Amino acid sequence: MEKKFWAEAWEQGNIGFHQKIIHSYLRRFYRRLGIAEGDSVFVPLCGKSLDMVWLQQQGAAVVGVELSPLAVQAFFEENDLNAFRDQQEPFESYSSGNLQLLCGDLFDLSQEEICHARAVYDRASLVALPKEMRRCYAAKLASLLPSGGRVLLVSYDYDQAEMAGPPFAVSAEELVELFEADFTMELLAEGDVLESHRVLAERGLTRLSEKAHLLIRK
Ligand SMILES: C[S@@+](CC[C@H](N)C(=O)[O-])C[C@H]1O[C@@H](n2cnc3c(N)ncnc32)[C@H](O)[C@@H]1O
Repeated sequence: MEKKFWAEAWEQGNIGFHQKIIHSYLRRFYRRLGIAEGDSVFVPLCGKSLDMVWLQQQGAAVVGVELSPLAVQAFFEENDLNAFRDQQEPFESYSSGNLQLLCGDLFDLSQEEICHARAVYDRASLVALPKEMRRCYAAKLASLLPSGGRVLLVSYDYDQAEMAGPPFAVSAEELVELFEADFTMELLAEGDVLESHRVLAERGLTRLSEKAHLLIRK
C-alpha cells in the first residue's frame, strides 16, 4: 500500500488490525525463534503491537520499524514508557531500554540498524502489502537476516474475490514462491479465525485461515 494509505489509517483510527491481546501463535511458537537472553528480535511493520512488550518480557531486545509516527508515539504512551528520541537518518528512533522503534520505511533498513537481529516476528506485516510489494518484502527479509536466522510468520489466506485487502490473502503457493529460494519453510499451525475477526466477516469473508510458519534463512 502507499504510505498515504497508512498515514490516513492511523490519523483516522482505522486500525482494526491492532490486537489487545498477545497473539496465541507468538506464545506457542516463541521458543522456535531460538532467541537467547539479550538477542534482538526484529518486528517489521510493527504498528503499536503489544506483542513487542511481550517479546521484551521474555528477555529479548526488540527493534521494530513503523512508518507512522502516530503509531510509534501511541505505543510508548499506551505502555507508559518514556521514549528517548534520536534522529538516525533516514529514521527517527524512539527507544526505552532494550526496546527501540524506528520510525520510517522498512525498505530503507540495513542489518546494522536492526542490531544484526537473527530473529523476525511478522504478524500481519507481509499480508499488509499488495502482491507486487510482497516480493520486495521477502527479498528485504532475506537481505537482513544471516544464515540460520529465523522468522515466525503469521499470515492470512482467504478468497481474495470476497474482499479487497489489506489484509491481503497470501496462498500457500505464493508463500513458497516468495520464500523457498532463501528460506526453509515449516508450517507450524493453521486455523480458521473468522469468528474472532468479525470486522472482516462484515467486509464479506466467509473463511479466514491464519497460518504460522517458521522460516529459516539458508
Ligand atoms: C496491518 S498493520 C500491522 C501492524 C502490526 N504488525 C500488528 O500486528 O499490529 C501494518 C503496519 O505497517 C505499517 N507500514 C506499512 N508499510 C510500511 C513500510 N514500508 N515500512 C514501515 N512500516 C510500514 C503501517 O503503518 C501499519 O502500521
